[in-house]
Amino acid sequence: MESYDRRGFLIRIWRWAGGLVAAAGAWTTWDVLRANGAGAGARVRTVAPDEVPSVGVLEVREMKGYLTRQDGEVVALWWKCPHLGCKVPWCDSSGQFECPCHGSVFNRIGEYRRGPAPRGMDSYAVAVENGELVVDTGEVTLGDPPGNETLDEPTTGPECLGSEGG
Ligand code: FES
Repeated sequence: MESYDRRGFLIRIWRWAGGLVAAAGAWTTWDVLRANGAGAGARVRTVAPDEVPSVGVLEVREMKGYLTRQDGEVVALWWKCPHLGCKVPWCDSSGQFECPCHGSVFNRIGEYRRGPAPRGMDSYAVAVENGELVVDTGEVTLGDPPGNETLDEPTTGPECLGSEGG
């Protein structure tokens, strides 16, 4: 009887510890992949216009997004995936955005390439004030639907997602 009670106690402890480990894992995964909130509406001062690259992108954590150029104009992209909201990282080797959650892929200016996302990446309004780019994270323009890629910029190398791309 005593050994049965001890066994039941140990089983409860193991279940409790397993639940704790599962909860910690879920929290860590959510914390890493979440989009860090919606465009909060803040106006974010970033960099001087000539610091924005036309090859590759500049990540600006304060605006939760990236700056790049299209035909000389600055484009400010929100890093939140238009599928289910994960943060979409830039892949240096392929020269495109690749979402690690379900494999949506976007070109350098956020236009849709493939995957379950319903549209391209959303963008913020951007203006120049006193020699600095100010991004308005409260003014979001939705990305275009699939089939509207205008940027003629093929991938530059291997994808970060792997050969199948999710
Ligand atoms: S959240 Fe990006 S593809 Fe699903």
